[in-house]
Amino acid sequence: MVNKEIEDYMDEYSSKEDKLLHQLYRETQIKTYYPRMVSGKQQGLFLEMISRMIKPLNILEIGTFTGYSGIQMAKGLQDGGKLVTIDINEEMETFAGKYFKLSGLQDKIDFRIGNALEIIPQLDMKFDLVFIDADKEQYIDYYELAMEKLNTGGFILADNVLWSGKVLHPEKKTSKSNKADKETKGIVAFNKHVKKDKRVEKVIIPIRDGVTIIRKL
Ligand SMILES: C[S@@+](CC[C@H](N)C(=O)[O-])C[C@H]1O[C@@H](n2cnc3c(N)ncnc32)[C@H](O)[C@@H]1O
Repeated sequence: MVNKEIEDYMDEYSSKEDKLLHQLYRETQIKTYYPRMVSGKQQGLFLEMISRMIKPLNILEIGTFTGYSGIQMAKGLQDGGKLVTIDINEEMETFAGKYFKLSGLQDKIDFRIGNALEIIPQLDMKFDLVFIDADKEQYIDYYELAMEKLNTGGFILADNVLWSGKVLHPEKKTSKSNKADKETKGIVAFNKHVKKDKRVEKVIIPIRDGVTIIRKL
């Protein structure tokens, strides 16, 4: 949501990206079909910072992909804490698994392959931080399931809530399939849902594609 010049400036005056994450980012660009899905440097540093501020005992991530955001958030865990990260795509198991090992955080990471909508209800634990970053059509469902597992005072971060600005004109038809349109509708519906939700307070941060920080009252 910021122009390239500003993004470069932000990069220059923020902490450096760690070498392993840079390697993960590069490999994601080369070896995956949708490399744009990876959080990347600025958002990764943001997630790490938020996690270090909260010092969560447990984190839930919905949408692991290649593991970038998971590794960044796991750095803020308390001793004995866990990141449960879920991805429906079994091809991610080897990719993300390799980087979880290389990060030295493997013991703190519980990586599950499957549908988050089925796995979350089975989790017998509570979370202090949840990152929602899977398919956009189901954001409200992920959110409601996550709320059940979130401690009072806990936080949900929802990614892509500005959806490249398409939230401003959700009725606009896309030139390709109507898949993108469904995703826009999903994000717009999610933003309205959170706006109305009296159980939480919230603020949208225009980093990368927009992240809502939501706190459970
Ligand atoms: C945007 S990517 C996640 C990016 C990652 N969090 C990062 O920042 O680097 C979305 C991921 O969600 C996964 N996904 C989609 N639907 C899912 C579902 N129902 N349950 C679990 N994972 C799902 C996809 O396979 C994909 O890898």
